[in-house]
Amino acid sequence: MPSLCGSFCQATTNGCGDCSSYERRIGRDKLCPEFFNSVQKKFTDGMKHVVIDAAIDAYLSETPRCFKMADLGCSSGTNALSLIGDIVNAIDERCHEKTRQVPQFMVFLNDLPGNDFNSIFISFSDFGSRLKNVRRRDEFHSVFMAGVPGSFYGRLFPSNSLHFIHSSHSLHWLSQVPPGIFNEEGKSMNSRKIYISKTSPPSIAKAYHQQFQKDFGSFLKSRSEELVSEGRMALIMSGRDTKEPCNKMTTLLWELLARSLSIMVAQGEIGGEDLELYNAPFYGPSLREIEYEVLREGSFTVEYLKIFKDKVGSGDAKKDGAALATAIRAIQESMLCHYIGREAIDRLFHIYSELLSEVMQKEEIMAVYAIVVLRRSP
Ligand SMILES: C[S@@+](CC[C@H](N)C(=O)[O-])C[C@H]1O[C@@H](n2cnc3c(N)ncnc32)[C@H](O)[C@@H]1O
Repeated sequence: MPSLCGSFCQATTNGCGDCSSYERRIGRDKLCPEFFNSVQKKFTDGMKHVVIDAAIDAYLSETPRCFKMADLGCSSGTNALSLIGDIVNAIDERCHEKTRQVPQFMVFLNDLPGNDFNSIFISFSDFGSRLKNVRRRDEFHSVFMAGVPGSFYGRLFPSNSLHFIHSSHSLHWLSQVPPGIFNEEGKSMNSRKIYISKTSPPSIAKAYHQQFQKDFGSFLKSRSEELVSEGRMALIMSGRDTKEPCNKMTTLLWELLARSLSIMVAQGEIGGEDLELYNAPFYGPSLREIEYEVLREGSFTVEYLKIFKDKVGSGDAKKDGAALATAIRAIQESMLCHYIGREAIDRLFHIYSELLSEVMQKEEIMAVYAIVVLRRSP
C-alpha cells in the first residue's frame, strides 16, 4: 500500500507580509467554484499529456530516490490532486517498464496563505485509492505531501530542492494591478474599462505588459534557484494567439464586466468615480512574450510552447452565461466590493450573466491557454 502523509508547513519565508493587497484578498476569499473547476479540468485534461511527459523527463534526468515536485497555485478544489495522481501513476508505470525501483514522492502544494489547504488534505484518502500501485500488492511506495503558503512571485523552497514544478490556471493573475495605469491623482487612465480594451490608450497595454514582465521575471528567477539542474517546469496559463494585446478572446469577459458596471453607472446605481480606481490584475501573454521573458531570465531552455484553444460552455446559452458569471464573481467579488459596495454586487452579476448569455447565444466563447515546458539549464 502506498503511504500518504500530509502536513501543513507554515514555515516559509515569503508569507503574507510582502504580498500586494490583491494577493491578500484573492487568497482569503476562495475562488474556484465547481463550474470553474470543471472548465479548467477540461483544459488541463487536454494538455495533461504534455505535463506528464515533462514530469517523466524530469524523473529520468536524475532518477532520484525521492522525486520532489510542486503544484503552484493549487487552490482547494477537486483539480488539486488529480494531475499529481496522474504524474505519480505515470512515473510508477515507467519504473515498472524499466524494472526500476519506484521512487518516493514528495509533493508540495502551494497557494496564497488564505487558501483552504485543509480541504485538500481531507481528500487524501480518495487520492490514495487512485494510485495504481494500491492494486499491486507486491510493491511499496510512498507519497508525502505538504502545504506551502506564499506568493509564487517570490521564493518558496530551498535552493536546488525540486525536480519538477507545475502550475495551471494561476500565472495569468498578476501580483497587483499595474501602477502605470493610474495618473498622478491615482485615477485609472483606462476610460472606464477594466482591462486592455480597443478604446484603451496605448499606455494601458504597455503598463499591463510591464507588470507581466516584472512578475513573470520574478517567478522564473525564484524557480531557477529552486529547481535542480535538468529539472522541468510545466506551466499552463491564459494566453493569446495574436501579437496585439487587445485580443477578443482574452478581453471579452472583461469587456462585458466593464459594460455591466457602465450600465449601473448610467442608471445611477453606482458612482462612476469608483470605477476609475478598479482594474483587473490579469494578463494573457502571447507565446512570444513568454519566450522573450524566458530568454531574458536566462536559466531555462524552452522545450515546448503552444497555444491551446477550446470553446467554453455546454451549448445552453442561458445556463452557460449564468455559470460563467458565477465563476467570474467568485474571482472578482471581493475586489469589486471594495469599490462599488457589497449591496451592488448581486445586481452587477445579474446584468453580467444576461450580457454573457446574450453573447453566447450568438457566438461561441473560446478560452485560450498557453502551455510551456521549461528545462533548467545545467
Ligand atoms: C483559478 S485557480 C487554479 C486552480 C488549479 N491550479 C486548477 O488548475 O484548477 C488560481 C489559483 O492561483 C492562486 N494564486 C493567484 N496568485 C497567486 C500567487 N501570487 N501565489 C500563489 N498562488 C496564487 C489563487 O489563490 C488560486 O487558488
